[in-house]
Amino acid sequence: MFVRRIAVIGTGYVGLTTGACLASLGHQVVCADVDEEKINKLKAGTIPILEPGLTELVTEGMAAGRLKFVVGARDAIANPNADDTESEDNPVEVVFLCVPTPMGAGGAADLAAVEAVAQEVRDLLPRNCVVVNKSTVPVGTAARTKQLLGRRDVAVVSNPEFLREGSAVHDFLNPDRIVVGCDQQDAAEKVAALYSRLGAPTLLTDAASSEMVKYAANCFLAMKLSYVNAMAELCERLGADVHEVTEGMGYDKRIGQAFLKPGPGWGGSCLPKDTNALVQISAAAGFDFPLLNASLETNNRQAARMVDKVRAACGGSLSGKRIGLLGLTFKAGTDDLRDSPALTVAAALRAEGAELTAFDPGCQTGVAGVTDGITVTDDPMTAAKDADAITVLTEWPEFRALDWKAMAKVASRRTVVDTRNLLDPDVLRRAGFSWVGVGCR
Ligand code: UDX
Repeated sequence: MFVRRIAVIGTGYVGLTTGACLASLGHQVVCADVDEEKINKLKAGTIPILEPGLTELVTEGMAAGRLKFVVGARDAIANPNADDTESEDNPVEVVFLCVPTPMGAGGAADLAAVEAVAQEVRDLLPRNCVVVNKSTVPVGTAARTKQLLGRRDVAVVSNPEFLREGSAVHDFLNPDRIVVGCDQQDAAEKVAALYSRLGAPTLLTDAASSEMVKYAANCFLAMKLSYVNAMAELCERLGADVHEVTEGMGYDKRIGQAFLKPGPGWGGSCLPKDTNALVQISAAAGFDFPLLNASLETNNRQAARMVDKVRAACGGSLSGKRIGLLGLTFKAGTDDLRDSPALTVAAALRAEGAELTAFDPGCQTGVAGVTDGITVTDDPMTAAKDADAITVLTEWPEFRALDWKAMAKVASRRTVVDTRNLLDPDVLRRAGFSWVGVGCR
């Protein structure tokens, strides 16, 4: 395998995971970020995100001299090894752009960060180096980046990431596939070779198709979940059990068992952003994509349905009711609150006058501007105290092991609305609670 000199611009969860994992595969990696405080922490071995295995990989990479951190893209590219006399002979060969592409006005992806980095580095890039877009970007961005760089000798490659938060390191090192798109075959092969040790199926394609794969995959997953959530509602109406239904569906190899759990709606930093972006991309191409709009609509409806369940559990009105929330993060195993369905449900409960106290193992203090209006506690008993209903919003396995008998003693009314179907209804019933799930009786 060739060892490449790589610069990774942006040390968010994608950039940091990419940098640390590429270093673990033997490459020489320099990671850059504009946030000096973050870089100083990383240099000191403090990892700013909760991601299993990442701290170990960063520590190992740094100790082996294969991973370093610098402030700013300029230093990563023009001066990657200031402390290394070999640097002049070994310039950076591959530059990964891992900067955020948040949801901008009207749902379209905001490419300001990608464009700013392209402008900043265009004259610094060594001859014949390859720039890789790792961030999720609209179809055509590789071509646009190439234009912004204005360098005939520099190829721009699309290489989307498929990392799930909470298992990003595992996903990177055990990928279902690697997708690399470029209109120059040699550049695509150079990027694909970075991953050769992983032995994953690799699709070499054109840049536009590669960029589309990411949207196509994430939107399909979102659609799959909206389908399951809608199916759960129908099961409730017809007296079927969605668990049995999805298990029966999932044995069909064309469907599979994964991604079939109903919940309070899908969220996180990718699925909602990418689905909204693809709606915009389609509209701009003059194509109406009703399946996508229906998936988004079903998702909004799902959060509203959860609020209906809590209201019903409280006797028909939420005004002045005390609700104990279990879970705030968008899924278990992360501290990420971005686009969390738990927060959507919480906001709707509050809008109807409920008082909220929340416990979440990944977020044990309030976050200004995000959890405003919710009392965040580090003790589940405080969330249960005097509660008119307890509502499970995130599927933390820890919630199964709570002392439900003790919770029943301090709660005001003994009802649990379990929007993740996480808890064992029998355990809850034995503790004195009534249990309300999603898609089942
Ligand atoms: C997702 C994609 O899975 C990943 O490939 C992409 O790179 C980034 O977006 P992530 O945002 O980490 O990853 O979350 P994921 O585990 O996919 O879950 C997304 C949402 O769907 C969460 O809100 C989760 O709780 C929900 N979900 C997931 C369900 O409600 N039911 C399921 O069965 C699975």
